[in-house]
Amino acid sequence: MSDASAHIGVTGLAVMGRNLARNFARNGFTVAVHNRTPARTRALVDEFGHEGTFVPAETAKELVAALQRPRRLMVMVQAGEATDAVIDEFAPLLEAGDMIIDGGNAHFADTRRREAALREQGIHFVGAGVSGGEEGALNGPSIMPGGSAESYAVLGPMFEAISAKVDGEPMSTHVGTDGAGHFVKMVHNGIEYADMQLIAEAYDLLRQVGRYTPAEIADVFRTWNTGRLDSYLIEITAEVLAHTDADTGLPFVDIVADAAGQKGTGRWTVQSALDLGSPATAIAQATFARAASSQEALRTAYRELPGGVSPDLTRSEAARFTAQVEQALYASKVIAYDQGFTMIRDAADEYGWDIDLGAVAGIWRAGCIIRAAFLDRVRAAYAESPALPSLLSQPEFAAEITAAQVPWRETVASATRRGIPVPALSAALAHYDTLRAGRLPAALLQGQRDYFGAHTYRRTDRPGSFHTHWAKAD
Ligand code: ATR
Repeated sequence: MSDASAHIGVTGLAVMGRNLARNFARNGFTVAVHNRTPARTRALVDEFGHEGTFVPAETAKELVAALQRPRRLMVMVQAGEATDAVIDEFAPLLEAGDMIIDGGNAHFADTRRREAALREQGIHFVGAGVSGGEEGALNGPSIMPGGSAESYAVLGPMFEAISAKVDGEPMSTHVGTDGAGHFVKMVHNGIEYADMQLIAEAYDLLRQVGRYTPAEIADVFRTWNTGRLDSYLIEITAEVLAHTDADTGLPFVDIVADAAGQKGTGRWTVQSALDLGSPATAIAQATFARAASSQEALRTAYRELPGGVSPDLTRSEAARFTAQVEQALYASKVIAYDQGFTMIRDAADEYGWDIDLGAVAGIWRAGCIIRAAFLDRVRAAYAESPALPSLLSQPEFAAEITAAQVPWRETVASATRRGIPVPALSAALAHYDTLRAGRLPAALLQGQRDYFGAHTYRRTDRPGSFHTHWAKAD
C-alpha cells in the first residue's frame, strides 16, 4: 500500500490503457495502475517502470487509496458491460468531487446515463474520446473530453500535457457537458469512414478508368498529399498502394479480400444522424458500402449482371481524368466534414451542449486518424463565424466547391457510365445539389402525404396548414 501520491489512476491495462498510463508517466505524472488480471499490472511495471513513476495496485481499494484528492480514475476497459461493472466496483470507494474518466469508445447515450447516475453521488463522470489508436495513446492522442467544466479545470492540464500538439497547442479541449465528448469522438469516426471510402473510390476510378497501376496511383496520392488533400489518410493510402505482397510479388491491395470490417462507430454515427434528422449521407453511404462489401451471397447474385462500358483513355486523357478525380475527392471531402459538423451542431441543440466547432476542428489537426491540413482552415472558418451554418457559407470553401463542381460531376458521370460504384462521391454530390436546389420535390411528397394520410401541407403563398379533399380514384 502506498500513501496517496498518484495524480491519476488507470484501470484496464490492455493496449490503450497501458499506453495512456505510460504517456501520463512519461509526462511526469505519478500513475497508479490496476487491471482485473494483476499479471498485466506487473508486466507494465516490469517492462516500462523506468519510464516514470508507477504505483501498482492489486485491488480496487489499493488503487483508490493511492490517489491524490480529488481522485482521478481513468477507466480503460472494454466498452459496454465491462465499463458498468468497473464503475459499480469503484464508485462506492470514491467521494464527492472525485472523477471517473471513461477513455473507451462508449456510446454517448451510455455516457449520458452514467454521468447522470454518478452526478447523484457528487462524482464527476467524464466521457473522453481518445483518438489515434495505440500509437496516439502513447505518443499524443487527440482527446475529446465531455463532463462538467469543473472536472475539465482539474483534468484539462493533464490531458493537454499528454495530447498531441500543433505548434505547441494541445489537442484537447472541453468539448461540452455529459456525453458531448463521446458524441464528437463518434462523429470523428463517422467522418473517418467517409474519408476512407471517398479515397477508396478515387483509387478505384484511377485504377479502372485511368488504368493506372497501384504503384502509379501511390505516386498520384503522394502528389495530392502535398496539396489541399494533405492528410494522414492520403499519406497511408499511398503507403498501402505502394506495398507489394512478399509471398506473391503482387500489389498488396490485390491479395486482400475485398470485404470491409467495422467495429460499430460508423453505424452509431448513422443511427444518430437518423435520430437527429441530420443528413449525414456520405457517412451513411460509406458505412453501407462496408456492409455491402461483406454481403457475399448478394454479390454473387449480382455479379454477372451487365455494367457500363469502359473505353480506354489516352495517357493525356487519363492525366486529365486524374485531375478531375482530385477535384471530386476534395469537394466530397468538404461535404463529408460539413455533414459531420452539422451533426454535431444538431446534437448540441438536441442535448443542450455548448460546442465550439472551431475548437473541435482544432483538436482534430493532430493525434487522430482524420488529421488533415484542411482542418486548420475549418478551424479558422468557425473561429471567424462561430454560427456558420455550413462550411460552404464561407467564401473560400464556396469558391473551391464552385471551381470543383464541373469536374466533380464529370467524375461521378464517368463512374456511372462505366458502372463503377461511387456511393460516397455521388452521395456527397447529391447532398450538394439537394441543399443548393431552389425548389425540391419535397413539395410533391407533401401532396402524396396529404392524399393518402391527410397529413396536411403548408402553402408557399399564405400561412397556415391545409388539407385538400381529394376525389380519390378508388
Ligand atoms: P484493447 O485496448 O486491447 O482494445 P479492450 O478489449 O477494450 O482492450 O479492453 C480489455 C481490458 O478490459 C482489459 O484490461 C480487461 O481486463 P483483463 O486483462 O483482466 O481481461 C478489461 N476488462 C474487460 N472486462 C472487464 C470487467 N468485466 N471488469 C474489469 N476489467 C475488464
